[in-house]
Amino acid sequence: MLELKTHHFTNDELLTHVERALEHTIANRPLAQKLKEAINYALLGGGKRVRPMLCLHCCAAARGDIQHAMPAAVAIEMIHAFSLVHDDLPALDNDDLRRGRATTHVAFGEALAILAGDALLSIAMEQALSCKIGSAHIAHELATSTTEMISGQVLDTLGGFPKDFNPAQQLELIHRQKTGALIRAACRMGAYAADANADTLDRLTRWGETMGLMFQVVDDILDETQSSEHLGKSAGKDAAQGKMTYPKIHGIAWSREHVKELLDHSEQLLKPLGEPAQPLRDMAQLLTTRTK
Ligand code: IPE
Ligand code: IPE
Ligand code: MG
Ligand code: MG
Ligand code: MG
Repeated sequence: MLELKTHHFTNDELLTHVERALEHTIANRPLAQKLKEAINYALLGGGKRVRPMLCLHCCAAARGDIQHAMPAAVAIEMIHAFSLVHDDLPALDNDDLRRGRATTHVAFGEALAILAGDALLSIAMEQALSCKIGSAHIAHELATSTTEMISGQVLDTLGGFPKDFNPAQQLELIHRQKTGALIRAACRMGAYAADANADTLDRLTRWGETMGLMFQVVDDILDETQSSEHLGKSAGKDAAQGKMTYPKIHGIAWSREHVKELLDHSEQLLKPLGEPAQPLRDMAQLLTTRTK
């Protein structure tokens, strides 16, 4: 098991712990072998692990013991993996490349991809409920944010916005729901695992919300500016599929400027949290300047 105290870990060590925890959650389960293989493929094949790291670092920023946030970190990454498997399906984005290799439905067939996504969802709930501190809040947060993510996927794929929304508002709503909700939830779950006070929870919520929107704006920019080889997923798909993106609605230069504004805002929010929030400042920088 994990030892105590975040500051004894380098980022790489924490990432290794996350990888091990993800593996461990699936190993030794009496599941159909095919299902296990598809789940492992979707969950363990690379990925930046942004959401679990945010969860652990938010727990530490709220002066909690990250050990208590690990099941929550695993849970949020499982929901993320589920969302990607279904996002890539022919009925949604119809993608055949993810993390530098075939998408789950291309490798295992659609039936197994759908079912592996379903199983990731239910195992994630189980994990959230197993947290030693704040499990009811954490599970509730995971469930509501997952529903929000799904709502965002509907808007992204099928549209159907509130009547009075202009395109910029529609776009922001898609991004806040399809991507922002899980990133905000990762942060809140970390705070709950630390039994954070109301002020810290509120601060980390607003920080997570800002990061979540920023993350998808960057994803939109990268889709337009990077190659498929570099990204490990098919580039240029948003434009080809007529998706509403920040570059499409606002242009690349404005989108880049907006990323900077969101970063500035996020830095303001972290100020009162002091030194324990340093890993969050570092992550915000990294997520702004990432190229994949
Ligand atoms: C991709 O998320 C989907 C979005 C919400 C933009 P990530 O960029 O976190 O994907 P992985 O997990 O690192 O592959
Ligand atoms: C991802 O949006 C949102 C979710 C998976 C919930 P995208 O469709 O832009 O993600 P990528 O670019 O395929 O990773
Ligand atoms: Mg999509
Ligand atoms: Mg997609
Ligand atoms: Mg994208």
